[in-house]
Amino acid sequence: MNASPSRIFAPGLLAGQVVLLSGGGSGLGRAATLELAALGADVTICGRRAEPLQETAALAEEAARRRGADADAAGGDDRGAAAGGAAAGDGRSAAVGTVHAAVCDVREEDQVDALVDAVLERHGRIDTLVNNAGGQFLAPAETISPKGFRTVMRLNAESAWLMSHAVATKAMIPDGDDGAPRGGKIVSVTLSPHHGLPGMAHSSASRAAVENLMRVLSIEWARFGIRLNAIAAGQFGTRTFLTKYPREMVESAAAMVPLQRLGTEDEFAWLVAFLCSPAGDFFSGSVLTMDGARDNHLGPWPDVIGNADADGNPLQEARRAKG
Ligand SMILES: NC(=O)c1ccc[n+]([C@@H]2O[C@H](COP(=O)([O-])OP(=O)(O)OC[C@H]3O[C@@H](n4cnc5c(N)ncnc54)[C@H](OP(=O)(O)O)[C@@H]3O)[C@@H](O)[C@H]2O)c1
Repeated sequence: MNASPSRIFAPGLLAGQVVLLSGGGSGLGRAATLELAALGADVTICGRRAEPLQETAALAEEAARRRGADADAAGGDDRGAAAGGAAAGDGRSAAVGTVHAAVCDVREEDQVDALVDAVLERHGRIDTLVNNAGGQFLAPAETISPKGFRTVMRLNAESAWLMSHAVATKAMIPDGDDGAPRGGKIVSVTLSPHHGLPGMAHSSASRAAVENLMRVLSIEWARFGIRLNAIAAGQFGTRTFLTKYPREMVESAAAMVPLQRLGTEDEFAWLVAFLCSPAGDFFSGSVLTMDGARDNHLGPWPDVIGNADADGNPLQEARRAKG
């Protein structure tokens, strides 16, 4: 995971941009946050737990200080090179953005409203929203209860709507100083393969809903200058992916990808940064599938036929007690 200057993009590429990103305390969301901040964006991250969010903020702060020290050592002035960072003189580089942690359950309308208000109060604008928070539990469809289905739909689909609607109506549709709607970008994380992920009926349904939401809003909200896209992530080697699911499933995942490997957190982060940058300005209503060609491969994963338990039942996840 990247906690240093971008290896891909120019320093200060996103200077002055304000980004709100959900699920920034871990995995793909943390990697994207660090990349965006390294490029100068001020990122507010949210999740239900404060601790992982604060860890991400601390990593970004450490990277900013390291760059400030490097610039001092080189005799150059990385500080003040771009807007968006903290004031020079505190040891950190001003070409690097800030990361603010905010506890928020994105399923809860009131919390989402309060979060968006708080970002606007702090920064006065939101340029990009990244709907990254999400999750599911692996279970054969016939065992998913109505409550379980609803829970995943709320987390993956309804939250994307709540966040997108709140950010659009409060930050992007209102007029800016020039009298025109401010506009902005919304990126939502969905999943590949699109032809169905066995054991994840709820998640497959919710991600399809989000992709269509991005598509329809890209038409409706084009008049406000809002661009919406989805990143359909294939299998990425995040901690959650590597530790949450049955071992057989994780170990067989890379072999089902035509490129024969999992995606990396950095690769995801770079795509998010690209979309935030001017290079992403003409993307709207697109689903960018990032999966090493997994979507085009007809082999099933998880393999419900080959990967069954001794009784022939499809694999399912062992549910952990909450605590
Ligand atoms: N890794 C993959 O292979 C893969 C593939 C396809 C799609 N995806 C999707 O990509 C996204 C990131 O995945 P990841 O692997 O990085 O997983 P992860 O590390 O588990 O990240 C999920 C994040 O979402 C947050 N979150 C969960 N429920 C939330 C809620 N109700 N409100 C606010 N935040 C919430 C979590 O923080 P808290 O627990 O603190 O709330 C966590 O930081 C997820 O949507 C995932 O489903 C991942």
